[in-house]
Amino acid sequence: MPSKTPNTASSGPGPFRQLLPAPDADVDLATAYAYPDGLDRPFVRANMVSSVDGGAVGPSGRSRDLSSAPDRRVMGVLRGLCDVVLVGAATARIEGYAPVRPREVWEPLRHGRPATPPIAVVSRTLDIPEALLSSAPETARTIVFTTASAPRERRERVRACADLVVVDGQSVGPEHVVNALGERGLCRVLTEGGPHLLAEFVGAGLLDELCLTVSPRVLGSGAPRVVAGGPGTPGAPTRASVRNTPVRMAHLLESEENLFARYVRE
Ligand SMILES: NC(=O)c1ccc[n+]([C@@H]2O[C@H](COP(=O)([O-])OP(=O)(O)OC[C@H]3O[C@@H](n4cnc5c(N)ncnc54)[C@H](OP(=O)(O)O)[C@@H]3O)[C@@H](O)[C@H]2O)c1
Repeated sequence: MPSKTPNTASSGPGPFRQLLPAPDADVDLATAYAYPDGLDRPFVRANMVSSVDGGAVGPSGRSRDLSSAPDRRVMGVLRGLCDVVLVGAATARIEGYAPVRPREVWEPLRHGRPATPPIAVVSRTLDIPEALLSSAPETARTIVFTTASAPRERRERVRACADLVVVDGQSVGPEHVVNALGERGLCRVLTEGGPHLLAEFVGAGLLDELCLTVSPRVLGSGAPRVVAGGPGTPGAPTRASVRNTPVRMAHLLESEENLFARYVRE
């Protein structure tokens, strides 16, 4: 179990209070979001933010319209706890992903591990933000998943700077990702989306946990959901289907009118 970390930074968001399973005014986020002990295979946790009417992307085309200081605080704790941050290439491009920066407050969380988790990106085109290739530290080299049909020149470029995993066929299956991360001993997986990549994991039955921030905003129609795609839509998951998988609410927190639900697969 991670040691207790300060709930609030001096200039950070207000306190987090737990509403469920039992009221608690003094929540330790690192404890509340601890991964299961003794993992011997990757455990895939997603962290997503949604408006109250279910939208995942605001007018800026990014999720920052929905984010807030408490949401960023939870995101920071989740990054500090994980072994690897997994994203779809569109999210990496649109949100301008760069290697994770170390934080002093993570030291107790990352005992015996590199100071930061690597970023892992899934991409067919290998159009990856340059910073992920050229600026990642040796202890947290970016991992890139692609297919054998990816452009050869880009494959060479990526291979020179990152840990490149090439999968046969047209698509990188979630099972390929999970197996390769497991082989690297990266069992505490945090995926930050986006909605299309998350749909693949849900479709494959490989999402273990969803940490969902509900932001006090209404986006209206047209905004994608946190899980997107369906048969026939661009980039749709090959196994898109409507499922009805029960999940258990592990906790519900509140801070500055944002709700932080943690749902775990039964
Ligand atoms: N609300 C939230 O919490 C949240 C979180 C994350 C992102 N977002 C928003 O969501 C949007 C981006 O998400 P998105 O759903 O459009 O895209 P995404 O899931 O981030 O990325 C899709 C891309 O990932 C690659 N990819 C996905 N599945 C693949 C597979 N099976 N095999 C090989 N490559 C695969 C492809 O990259 P290539 O195109 O390189 O081939 C594909 O175009 C942005 O607007 C972002 O701001 C919101």
